[in-house]
Amino acid sequence: MRRPVKIAESDSAKAPVTLHDRSVSQLPGDRFLVIVSRYWQDAQFESDIAKRRSHEMSEAADGMATERVVYLNGEIIPESEARLSIFDRGFIWGDAVYDAGRTFAGKPYRMWEHVQRLYRSMRYCRFDMGMPAEDFHGIVLEVIERNVPLLASGGDYLCRMHVSRGVMPDEGSVHRGQDMPLTVVVFCMPINLAVFAKHYDDGGGIPLVITSTRRVPPACLSPQAKISAKMNNFIAAFEAQDVDPEAQPLMLDVNGYVTESQGSNFMFVRNGRICMPNRSGALVGESMMTVAEIAGRLDIPVDEGFYTPYDVYNADEAFLTAGTFCVLPVGSIDRRPLNKAAPGPVTKRILNAWSEMVGVDIAGQIREQARGRNLPA
Ligand SMILES: Cc1ncc(COP(=O)(O)O)c(C=O)c1O
Repeated sequence: MRRPVKIAESDSAKAPVTLHDRSVSQLPGDRFLVIVSRYWQDAQFESDIAKRRSHEMSEAADGMATERVVYLNGEIIPESEARLSIFDRGFIWGDAVYDAGRTFAGKPYRMWEHVQRLYRSMRYCRFDMGMPAEDFHGIVLEVIERNVPLLASGGDYLCRMHVSRGVMPDEGSVHRGQDMPLTVVVFCMPINLAVFAKHYDDGGGIPLVITSTRRVPPACLSPQAKISAKMNNFIAAFEAQDVDPEAQPLMLDVNGYVTESQGSNFMFVRNGRICMPNRSGALVGESMMTVAEIAGRLDIPVDEGFYTPYDVYNADEAFLTAGTFCVLPVGSIDRRPLNKAAPGPVTKRILNAWSEMVGVDIAGQIREQARGRNLPA
């Protein structure tokens, strides 16, 4: 049975799109028959099918899904049914881009901005999904909407959109590959940041280590494109953890200017002003831009510039920004405490204003997770 997918209405810029829904609660009859005829003799399988049928019927009856769904190449299907080829170029070469945005209390946050950034990454990497961004945005909202009922109370999702250049057909096509159908995936994962909770306590803050591993320069690969292959960032992260298992890296560019961390942006505060490393050397994070916006509303000036280790060692406060934890206070850089104990006053103001804006106590939610309550489903 097929039914058109209803588009969620809780985010900006919506557009109608029709997909074929093949979730567990609507398993197509033809597929069911194929499976049954193949395994007709298998009593165990029959009983599994019977169980599944009654499960489908009860789900259909009360409209409740029990498994998250994902979007995979044109269909929305149960997570457990999603399969990718081992020949996918995303797996073989990291020939893929992605984006990810979170929900707050189950509501998508700036997903349209994430979709637009994904499309900019795709354009840079010469991927053409053949679908207007507005339609893809509709799919993202649909996946989120269908998964929200499965969120644990107080929990939230990170919604990921991954696109690879598709499946390699043979060994001769390594340098072509531009005419293959892309692999397109959208899925939701519960966010669990329990490990970061203590960094929000007074006198806490995550330690940062400036690594010898430099951020790949824009002349080689644009850090502004969100490319799946993150080995550059991972190697820096391992290097930081060699110094302190709790530390995150702070990466410089090849000229010695501060860029970003492993999967987050870095900002610091000096004399009441927020300093943002020049955006040509780092991903332009949605969270970093949210901080800049909030700062504007709070009359906190934001400077963008080329900063060195000298500048950050002399910072009053610093924090990381990312779609998961939003704002994570920094306690030290290369084991040197910052001028003010973390979380500093500006960091707190930004965190509070962001929490108010989205109706979720961001640090509180993380602490709840650490207390073992509201753990992701
Ligand atoms: C390298 C890098 N920088 C910064 C960020 C933060 O971006 P956003 O705030 O949009 O999550 C990420 C997020 O994954 C990242 O991978």
